[in-house]
Amino acid sequence: MKKLILIISMWLCITSVTQAQSISSPNGEFSLNFSLLSDGTPTYQLSYKKQDVVKQSKLGLELKNDQQSLLDNFKITKTATSTFNETWKPVWGETSEIKNHYNELEVTLTQNLSNRIVVIRFRLFNDGLGFRYEFPKQKNLTYFTLKEERTEFAMTGDHTAFWIPGDYDTQEYDYTTSKLSEIRSLFDKAYTANTSQTAFSKTGVQTSLMMKSDKGLYINLHEAALINYACMHLNLDDKNMVFQSWLTPGANGDKGYLQAPCNTPWRTIIASDDARDILASNITLNLNEPCKIEDTSWIKPVKYIGVWWEMITGKSSWSYTNDVPSVQLGKTDYSKVKPNGTHAANTPHVKKYIDYAAKHGFDAVLVEGWNEGWEDWFGNSKDYVFDFVTPYPDFDVQEIHKYAKSKGVEMIMHHETSGSTRNYERHMDKAYQFMKDNGYNAVKSGYVGNILPRGDYHYSQWTVNHYQYALEKAADYKIMINAHEAVRPTGICRTYPNLIGNESARGTEYQSFGGNNANHVTILPFTRLIGGPMDYTPGIFEMNIANLNPNNNSHVNATIANQLALYVTMYSPLQMAADLPENYDRFLDAFQFIKEVPVDWSTSKYLEAEPGSYVTIARKDKNSNNWFVGNVNGMEKRTSKIKLDFLDKEKKYIATIYADGKDAHYNTNSQSYKITQKTVNYKSSLKLTSAVGGGYAISIIEKK
Ligand code: NOJ
Ligand code: CA
Repeated sequence: MKKLILIISMWLCITSVTQAQSISSPNGEFSLNFSLLSDGTPTYQLSYKKQDVVKQSKLGLELKNDQQSLLDNFKITKTATSTFNETWKPVWGETSEIKNHYNELEVTLTQNLSNRIVVIRFRLFNDGLGFRYEFPKQKNLTYFTLKEERTEFAMTGDHTAFWIPGDYDTQEYDYTTSKLSEIRSLFDKAYTANTSQTAFSKTGVQTSLMMKSDKGLYINLHEAALINYACMHLNLDDKNMVFQSWLTPGANGDKGYLQAPCNTPWRTIIASDDARDILASNITLNLNEPCKIEDTSWIKPVKYIGVWWEMITGKSSWSYTNDVPSVQLGKTDYSKVKPNGTHAANTPHVKKYIDYAAKHGFDAVLVEGWNEGWEDWFGNSKDYVFDFVTPYPDFDVQEIHKYAKSKGVEMIMHHETSGSTRNYERHMDKAYQFMKDNGYNAVKSGYVGNILPRGDYHYSQWTVNHYQYALEKAADYKIMINAHEAVRPTGICRTYPNLIGNESARGTEYQSFGGNNANHVTILPFTRLIGGPMDYTPGIFEMNIANLNPNNNSHVNATIANQLALYVTMYSPLQMAADLPENYDRFLDAFQFIKEVPVDWSTSKYLEAEPGSYVTIARKDKNSNNWFVGNVNGMEKRTSKIKLDFLDKEKKYIATIYADGKDAHYNTNSQSYKITQKTVNYKSSLKLTSAVGGGYAISIIEKK
């Protein structure tokens, strides 16, 4: 009998091997091959212009304990191919229309003996591949626990990578640029620069991971539609240059609890021999579900200022008092509390910001440090630090609401959860209702510190579900969300466009905590922004932080022109002008660009791009015929030559060019800029030199 089973299964394997499947991308440049190894292990291989992007790589999932893993012993029981082609309109975006065109291969696998069924769905676009595992409803697989997902991405060589260390809790790192083979030796240097404790391997990196091969092929690995699943990291086998998926565990080490029918997020591979195509790719959005919010009229892009940078730099405080025990959350007797005198979120000060927003045409004002709890922030990692509804006594919620309304300015709420996800969930309905009652339509949420419940991580399945819960509940209240320290975005804003921003990377705040690498912003569009917009909070004009707070010697590693360019190069429907009003008043001519630049676009043109070196993008305003161009530059002075052939042939425009001054430099001469104007049309071209850590910004306004 045993012999018979052996013969039958061998026969099955042999027929399986011959059942290799392949599809091409609609333009024929990519091809995807699926096949089973002789032991029934599923594999895929991806090529672009007839060269390997990913060599034959294994697919599968390892289950916990007694459960037979979904790794091998499969046979192909069904395959189907199809084509999809549609154009959809995002609520906001880099373009007003997005083409979603792919060829699909659906492979149904049945595991010998266990009879379990796994479907692997591949979607091959003109810009790359997405694939995921699906678990249909079936008798032999209902509840299962993941020990690890075992998806491989076998690279063809020792590529250059733009990487940050694998970490279950933070992405707030500067990037390291190195060969894959150097990650191991550079890991500690990259990792210890930060405080997190959750590196899992010396060759572990985060997605979105950007790479470049010696042959000039650009490859980006990430994921799309991360829902009810742990966030994926990549662990490199640096002998063979094979990445393996590495999921974020939960508090007890398990990597995920699934119940069929269900599916994993999509694993994405974007590739091209032209770096600009990586920036133009819409794979991440296209692999997400269409918008689930019926009425989206309340979702609006926002340009805002805030009572924020003064706290980040240490000039002011979030807290009203330094006397921790005197505040009893929601029950404080303020006659007994000693104010510290530096609390920024006070009514008269906030009104000044509202006036400034109204005067210069900003949509909204964010105020942090308005509510009780900051005096005890991080105190013993308590569950109940904030209740999100109790203002400090000097912050008059109603008065501020009335005042902002009279000036036509929206207020942005701030919820620092301190990582206490359960506490936030307990208070969420009240907190969102409080926002609605007081005129707030958007909230910046934050997850600083270790996740509570203790032992869990920022990127685990449980915590991913928390962010999703907050997002969907916010949609019920018609509230827009900008979540900081949450899991990196994976295009979910297509389905829930009330997710107007995320941080999930090292933002401008670090310019006040020691500085960012000057070429950081030439890498972020290729990495963090692949998943969705970032609340980078640009627009800093005063680069010596000591001029705000004499005790802070940090330097903003950027020129003023570079800071202006970020409004174009760092796409986001939510953009902050982060510096203090008094600093903008000193440079009102440069500030003009920030005032004019839109936050929603009909078209985007990626003019020049090289990760780590430069990015130049032109975008057309969604609501006018005006164009805006931004260039950010890395560590070498560079002259950029751009053609304005994207302009309307029939029209004339006035271009205002905000360029680096002759001797500008991010470190030694960061405030040197020059503004010039000229009439341009579609035949014009421009030659502009950007400083080290510099750039330029151009507004191209239709001449009527
Ligand atoms: C970190 C966020 O990134 C920052 O923007 C915020 O001000 C602080 N946490 C306080 O919530
Ligand atoms: Ca942060």
